[in-house]
Amino acid sequence: MRPGSRRGFKFNGSLCWGQRNGLDHIPGKEEQRAMNTNSLWSTHEKSENQHRREICTAGKWMYDRGFIVACEGNISVRLDEDRILTTPTCMNKGMLEPQDLVVTNLEGRQLAGERKFSSEIAMHLLFYHMRPDVNAICHAHPPTTTGFAAAGRSLNQALLPEVIIGLGQIPLVRYATPGTPELSAAIEPFVPHYDALLLANHGAVTCGPDLLTAFFRMETIEHFAKIVLAAELAGGPVLLSSREVAKLMAARTRYFVTPPPGGGAELPETSDTGESSSSHVSLTRNELDALIDEAVRKDRARR
Ligand code: 13P
Repeated sequence: MRPGSRRGFKFNGSLCWGQRNGLDHIPGKEEQRAMNTNSLWSTHEKSENQHRREICTAGKWMYDRGFIVACEGNISVRLDEDRILTTPTCMNKGMLEPQDLVVTNLEGRQLAGERKFSSEIAMHLLFYHMRPDVNAICHAHPPTTTGFAAAGRSLNQALLPEVIIGLGQIPLVRYATPGTPELSAAIEPFVPHYDALLLANHGAVTCGPDLLTAFFRMETIEHFAKIVLAAELAGGPVLLSSREVAKLMAARTRYFVTPPPGGGAELPETSDTGESSSSHVSLTRNELDALIDEAVRKDRARR
């Protein structure tokens, strides 16, 4: 059994997508063969060849959507308890063939493949070590998201229900040189608590129980970054209140969202939590659950 598979289905955060509500999304027959709605099911057993084809498809999607150019970005999946399948370094990830991919163990030792593994392998392995629920990682430099990261800004505002339900907020990790232990050290405190991170002056990294979910999270944060920018141009974002955020958090189970197992994630900035992220507090999972329960109870009593 693949790690995390016992957790079963985990929703990807898009409220109107997928087999569950009968909508078709995947473009092109070729891509449909490589990655389809079954890819959302972490219990779905796949061959190594299937994983190789899926990584090539996700790389092509990232390249076609402009999330990466030239040799940027990297993708990996967990093949089993001991092995990772990763993109090679210094190749265009939108033009990969299945045989270009590299297999390593969880210590980053190369086990198979002609090419050298990604220079960011340590960042990927950090997720796999710390998050048994994670089976896939996408790293990219989507322009709007990376613009926020280069401006020293997180995507932490309570603006869109889909983003709040699916991801909570997307924090900014301080800058460290790509591919170094310093970057892993900077990311480490965030890994148990978030499924998507902005990397200052660098890009973004997303994870998921399967590759399609990790890819969708990358797509979601870039879409969100564009909307935040548009809202700023249109006169300034209007933040939701913490009461509305509590209702969205309580609705997560309705959308099959399983939050990261670490708990303690910061809630997004709301209209009543002040202007600066320094006003945020850290909560344990239990404290957060108690707050949500209380908010929902008060809301019901008011009706
Ligand atoms: P790799 O080609 O080594 O995976 O690196 C690409 C990248 O985006 C580094 O940040």
